[in-house]
Amino acid sequence: MCGIVGINSFENVVPRIMDGLSRLEYRGYDSAGIATIDHGQFQVRRAVGKLQSLRDLLQHHPVQGNVGIAHTRWATHGVPNQTNAHPHSNEYVAVVHNGIIENHAELRAGLQQKGYVFNSQTDTEVVVHLFTDYLKQGKTPLECLQSLLGDIVGAFALAIILRQFPDLMLVARKGSPLVIGIGKDEMYIGSDALALSDWTNQVIYLEDGDYAELTAKSYQIYDVAHQAISRPIKVVEFKADAVAKGSYAHFMQKEIFEQPMVIGKTLQQYVDSEALATKLSTTADWMAAPKLSIVACGTSYYAGMVAKYWFETYAKISVEVDIASEFRYRDPVFLEEGITLVISQSGETIDTLMALTLAAEKGQQTVAIVNVPESSIARTAQDVLLTYAGPEIGVASTKAFTAQLTVLANLVIYAAKQRGHLTQSQEKALVTELMTAPGLVMTALQTETDIHQVALVLEKAQDVLFLGRGTNFPVALEGALKLKEISYIHAEGYAAGELKHGPIALIDNTVPVVVNIPATDVWFEKTLSNVQEVAARGAKTICLTDAKGQKALEANHIDSLVLKMPTCSSFVAPIVYAVPMQLLAYHTAVLRGTDVDQPRNLAKSVTVE
Ligand code: G6P
Repeated sequence: MCGIVGINSFENVVPRIMDGLSRLEYRGYDSAGIATIDHGQFQVRRAVGKLQSLRDLLQHHPVQGNVGIAHTRWATHGVPNQTNAHPHSNEYVAVVHNGIIENHAELRAGLQQKGYVFNSQTDTEVVVHLFTDYLKQGKTPLECLQSLLGDIVGAFALAIILRQFPDLMLVARKGSPLVIGIGKDEMYIGSDALALSDWTNQVIYLEDGDYAELTAKSYQIYDVAHQAISRPIKVVEFKADAVAKGSYAHFMQKEIFEQPMVIGKTLQQYVDSEALATKLSTTADWMAAPKLSIVACGTSYYAGMVAKYWFETYAKISVEVDIASEFRYRDPVFLEEGITLVISQSGETIDTLMALTLAAEKGQQTVAIVNVPESSIARTAQDVLLTYAGPEIGVASTKAFTAQLTVLANLVIYAAKQRGHLTQSQEKALVTELMTAPGLVMTALQTETDIHQVALVLEKAQDVLFLGRGTNFPVALEGALKLKEISYIHAEGYAAGELKHGPIALIDNTVPVVVNIPATDVWFEKTLSNVQEVAARGAKTICLTDAKGQKALEANHIDSLVLKMPTCSSFVAPIVYAVPMQLLAYHTAVLRGTDVDQPRNLAKSVTVE
């Protein structure tokens, strides 16, 4: 949520800051702004809406400067208007902030009593005035920052520049991510290393509670105990094409089509293709674990729901799956030696991170499946299992989901072995099935032409239902979520068997019903009956099924649009059936002309509660 970027240099930084900001736009796009120091004065430009509005503003009112900070906003406190856009500044200090300062109201009241005048409705503006207050007390910039950090409560990544100290940039992080990049006679800061990828591959990931003072040539980091500290410099490699759309119309489309490669790459890491065995292992003891708690948000939560079916079937372990924002504020019962598994693409989702922290505090064994290796979640969990999806830019998650399922499938096999419920030949059979996933996904992608036809139906709908049973139920939920997120059509996912307990009342000939119904599922016949139930009530049904399923539909005289899927084992079906769900949402959104990669009100990385 919100992206921040900054450069301290001996040259004009503005064009590059704008490039860096464009790589962070996935974090929010309600407004954007930049502040520099030029000839001893702050130059601040802010514009509502996407980054392009700020670019347009800069065309007419250019700025320059050798030090600068910038921000792309996902609004929390205060509507997205120009006054609430960052950077916030007065004549002494300019600040960009990602996170929420929880005690801002109380701080604001105190500062107002001292005569400070607030212009915006944001929590961030307290930082500007507090810092100024300390400066006026004669403190050094570093002392001001230290005092400020003692005052503010909440989550933040902050970058601050000072008119009277134009060589300096100050940063701090707690809860929200921040990296420092090291260049030649230049220093950079950003919400993620991707923002700095054109300028340096040497980055330092600040730890929670760290703060730092940067000049163009130097940096000094301090830890939460105010001790000067050195943090390791990591060399990160980004491929230029990882953050470019190439020939695709949208990042989302590109990322959907990357899935055969991503799943293949993830399998390479976790599967011994000669022995037909999983290579995945954890330090967590699955034999001892009496219970598994899976915790995540959004699409990652649905990946966890699929895994619940797998863990119960193959590893015979009791599983609960929770939404992180509920889990962390309930009183979950933690059993001794229980395992908490968190799943997150970004590794920064605050609710998931806090759920993980809670589980660790309660003595649980912790495992994380994440896509970003240096993320906060990756650095907190006892065991880290990476998905090899590469940077995911489209706000609606696609390739991360199927990569998560691929890792989860391996984890299930590993856990089942540890718990003595999987023979070697059973493992070979499951791994063999898993290895067919990249090819099957490739075939599933070829449904794109037919999907376009179905999208023409969905485009006109006000409500759409998605149904499935077993592992295809969470895939239906994910299908509904994708459609909601990017086309803004109301959609619900339901367990097909639950339909008659309420949602069937919604059915008429205006409500399309999308059903995941692979004939290889043990629930096939039952789901087929549910299709008949909705078809009998006039719904337009769209069935995703294989050749055998299509025959059964015909034999039962069910008039349904069919998206023909490759025949696949029920184990890999959720990975394969997720793909047409994504394409359906994508094509419907394109037909409706919505902003596919940056849907309204959403952000990719949710670092606020
Ligand atoms: C946001 C994104 C979703 C994502 C969810 C969880 O809502 O828009 O696509 O599934 O966060 O994110 P995570 O990074 O933890 O998987």
